[in-house]
Amino acid sequence: MIHFVVLTLFKEMFDGFLNSSIIKRAIESGKVDVKLVDIRDFSDNKNRKVDDTSYGGGAGMVLMAEPVAKAIDYAIKILDTPKYEVIYMSPRGKLFSYNIAKEMSDKFVDTSYIVICGHYEGIDERVLDEYNALELSIGDYVLTGGELPAMVLVDCVSRLVSGVINEESLKDESHTNGLLEYPQYTKPQKWRGKEVPDVLITGNHQNIDKYRKEESLKVTMKNRPELLKKEK
Ligand SMILES: C[S@@+](CC[C@H](N)C(=O)[O-])C[C@H]1O[C@@H](n2cnc3c(N)ncnc32)[C@H](O)[C@@H]1O
Repeated sequence: MIHFVVLTLFKEMFDGFLNSSIIKRAIESGKVDVKLVDIRDFSDNKNRKVDDTSYGGGAGMVLMAEPVAKAIDYAIKILDTPKYEVIYMSPRGKLFSYNIAKEMSDKFVDTSYIVICGHYEGIDERVLDEYNALELSIGDYVLTGGELPAMVLVDCVSRLVSGVINEESLKDESHTNGLLEYPQYTKPQKWRGKEVPDVLITGNHQNIDKYRKEESLKVTMKNRPELLKKEK
């Protein structure tokens, strides 16, 4: 079972995610475990305040080091394993990718993941240093909080865990082999005058593979030509 502990100020944001579809089934079948920890539970303030103004000035608030550190210590305690990685979802981070997700899902047998969701201006840098947090970004844009990025990470890594989805579905998927996926079609064979490509209904798998490879190259060239130049 892969273990995640997610530290957040907004646990309720995960309700729909953890209670729907493939992730719900993966949790129910014991392949994935996601625990949510409310950083406010570790505030030493009667109003559960966990943020303060930024040294040096600036508009936004910053999450204080101590409540975040205590939440991480609690996560380490409930994971009960010496091998864990602390990840901070952050627009400053290394770009999250299929390769990083694959590495994480391959390592999960002996490594658990503590995922911190920032909010407001972010988190006091010292707590990130203290726990040697790996910063991961889900894209070159800024969101209001780390909850959606944490869900992206948990979803993407979990679906690569053996048995969470049909292994066949992972084959040829976009980004798995440096290419984007070929177009997909389902019934009916004719829809609004548009036919499914003939080759897909011939049953000739060699021709189908060839057609799909060509379409993959075409779509990659059109949408993400830089992927074709990347070294494998
Ligand atoms: C408004 S953002 C803070 C942005 C920060 N002041 C900066 O400029 O880097 C609040 C939180 O949302 C999360 N976040 C926002 N965009 C993200 C992204 N692209 N990837 C991962 N996390 C992100 C982070 O946890 C961050 O601490």
